[in-house]
Amino acid sequence: MIDHVSFAYKKQHPIINNMSIELFSEDFTAIVGANGTGKTTLGKLMTGILKPEKGSVIIDGLDSSKISLGAIGKKAGYLFQNPERQIFAPNVYEELSFPLEVKGMKKEEIERKVNESLTIFQLTHLSKVFPFTLSQGEKQRLALAAILINEPKFLILDEPTTGLDIERKNTLSTILGRLKEKGIGIVMISHDGAFIGKHATRIIELAGGEVIGDNKKCLGSKSKTDHCA
Ligand SMILES: Nc1ncnc2c1ncn2[C@@H]1O[C@H](COP(=O)(O)OP(=O)(O)OP(=O)(O)O)[C@@H](O)[C@H]1O
Ligand SMILES: [Mg+2]
Repeated sequence: MIDHVSFAYKKQHPIINNMSIELFSEDFTAIVGANGTGKTTLGKLMTGILKPEKGSVIIDGLDSSKISLGAIGKKAGYLFQNPERQIFAPNVYEELSFPLEVKGMKKEEIERKVNESLTIFQLTHLSKVFPFTLSQGEKQRLALAAILINEPKFLILDEPTTGLDIERKNTLSTILGRLKEKGIGIVMISHDGAFIGKHATRIIELAGGEVIGDNKKCLGSKSKTDHCA
């Protein structure tokens, strides 16, 4: 939950201005708005990568300013606009097994989970490959797999369809559909109207550091706010 949050990179230029949004895990929420309106900034606030200057971000009951990024990662996963930024292991298999080793999981259990994940994300044939040599779509599937191995309750995706061909978009659609069925809340920042149209149950539009449209709020609210037609 975004509770009266304000954020600026430079003092004179607030990017997020006293914004409040309550997210629900049953939704596929799309966040839309022009370039530079603060969508990525909001996504980073939602997952604790950035901390609010004013207000608070509450993730599954916990204040993002008071818990570690590791603890947040178990509740909300964030897929970067450029997935390369979150890949670091020497091969695909270890990218997925490492977080489980850190958790202290048993070797057999790790193998089972990683192999299952490799199958779901169509990466089994690439398990020994150096991640940086993967294609854009493969890197994205690996980054998503690595986030989901933590079993977060929420997934926040920043422009996940950019650079994907039709077939890869369809693969992503199938994966997200499955996650939705599992009850994982999805928040997707995107300019891809067709993809949003296919999946989103809620669309939040940002401009000038504020929410200027939110169909869920309009559907649910008794007293209509300005942007509810
Ligand atoms: N690290 C940073 N330091 C300073 N300014 C930044 C930083 N990151 C983003 N900004 C500025 O904050 C504003 C919002 O950026 P943000 O990346 O959140 O926009 P966006 O809505 O995601 O845009 P896009 O659709 O192009 O991805 C922009 O004016 C950007 O230049
Ligand atoms: Mg962005």
